[in-house]
Amino acid sequence: MKKTFKFNYIEYNSLDQAPKDIQSLMRKAQEARENAYAPYSKFMVGAALKDSEGNIYLGNNQENAAYPSGLCAERVAIFHAGATNPDAIFTDLAVTVRSLNKRIDSPPSPCGACRQSLVEYESKQQKNIRVHFMGEEGPIIHVDSIKDLLPFLFDSSTLL
Ligand code: THU
Repeated sequence: MKKTFKFNYIEYNSLDQAPKDIQSLMRKAQEARENAYAPYSKFMVGAALKDSEGNIYLGNNQENAAYPSGLCAERVAIFHAGATNPDAIFTDLAVTVRSLNKRIDSPPSPCGACRQSLVEYESKQQKNIRVHFMGEEGPIIHVDSIKDLLPFLFDSSTLL
């Protein structure tokens, strides 16, 4: 039987067109992005994660001379958040990138390893995390859940 995956997403042409709360979260991600430690790739990524109480946890990519020892911005943010406030319910994640090599206008989405790490928290809290991702300035893509980015996901439901 042939089956199809479908998911909806929203694209805003610019930051100004996004809802105000997303705009301000994205501004925080932009600030975090500028503090990225990315001397090797020159690809600076910032992430801002919000919880249901309005707390914000920042992350940016942290590279290493032994390349695989570095970590992406999204995982720095969510591990930081999970370590700081283990009972928090995370609602929104904003991610933005700026490359020192070329201008990035189209929104790059989180890498596969970050999707897997992020979806763990959706399973843990049994609530979706909305994701908003953007290049240097805009457009912005919005998805309602990490699961939308990870069809046939592997999570605790398979193990436990
Ligand atoms: N990077 C992220 O921070 N997030 C992603 O989702 C993709 C890639 C970082 C890792 C590395 O420091 C640089 O971007 C280039 O891959």
